[in-house]
Amino acid sequence: MTTILAIESSCDDTSAAVLRDRRVLSNVIASQKVHEQYGGVVPELASRAHQQNIVPVVDTALRQAGIGKEEVDAVGFTRGPGLLGSLLVGVSFAKSFATAIGKPLVEVNHLQAHVLSHFIDRGEPMPQFPFICLLVSGGHTQILLLRDYFDITVLGTTIDDAAGEAIDKAAKIMDLGYPGGPVIDRLAKEGNADAFTFATPHIAGYDYSFSGIKTSFLYFLRDRLKEDPDFIEKHKADLCASIQKTIVGFLLKKVERAALDNHVRQLAIAGGVSANSLLRSELQRICQKHHWQAFIPPFSFCTDNAAMVGIAATLKYEHGEYADISLPPYTR
Ligand code: KG4
Ligand code: ZN
Repeated sequence: MTTILAIESSCDDTSAAVLRDRRVLSNVIASQKVHEQYGGVVPELASRAHQQNIVPVVDTALRQAGIGKEEVDAVGFTRGPGLLGSLLVGVSFAKSFATAIGKPLVEVNHLQAHVLSHFIDRGEPMPQFPFICLLVSGGHTQILLLRDYFDITVLGTTIDDAAGEAIDKAAKIMDLGYPGGPVIDRLAKEGNADAFTFATPHIAGYDYSFSGIKTSFLYFLRDRLKEDPDFIEKHKADLCASIQKTIVGFLLKKVERAALDNHVRQLAIAGGVSANSLLRSELQRICQKHHWQAFIPPFSFCTDNAAMVGIAATLKYEHGEYADISLPPYTR
């Protein structure tokens, strides 16, 4: 029996989870509301909020799991990538906690954790190797080929903005608040996705670019607003549905191509943007068309959380891959 306490603090969510034998006993997330008024994450405020949250969040995770700290076999933590001030809080806490209970540390890469969340035991089928995972978050957009848990090849990546960043910027242009992804998703359900079209760039291979889509969205609205200052207000739902369809279509077209080229029959999605309802339904549709299998994470494991760090730490712990207490965080 393996019991892991996992800590995640790479961006603006302070999270702690307890996993026992790949099952989640608790997964506590304190999201930081302080950034909403600034329209994006303010690093200095994020690290301060982590500092306030970390002790109560870990305490709650242990209590919800119904375990004492002496039952923890190892402490897993996100070492990077992320914001330095944010990472430092989780890394320092994990080191102190592990030292205090005399148990090993396991370092986890945040991106691997997102992908490996598919191996949390929920009593549901899990992907079999090899499979392709589209990792889409506020900071990353990658097509990954997994041949084993830690044998991961990056097939494609964004050359500029991440998909979540593009969605958040589109939302900001329409004054929908931050983070805009969930708002666009909700409003898009009432809109016509074919109302407007936005060009997607031709990028070689499986790479992406999102800065052009964002700019064409911005210029389109600037021109329309000259004719009608209420244009956004009148067409909000259609605009959300159209930009969402553009971004999701662009993402999945390359994933489908990558699967065909690599003869892979299983597709997964991970990261904050994998909570998007159109991305989820379109992935299902593509997989049904080809008789492939789709793996879609539950909402609680899409955005940043410590349960995904816990599963990655469990897999490493089982191979005796412990971290040295002197390891510093890394931002990239
Ligand atoms: O993985 P995550 O929580 O943090 C990073 O590591 O970046 O991802 C956050 C991103 C944000 O850009 C947010 O707008 C987006 O995920 N997001 C969504 C949805 N829920 C969160 N984007 C589209 N539709 C959603 N339902
Ligand atoms: Zn993330």
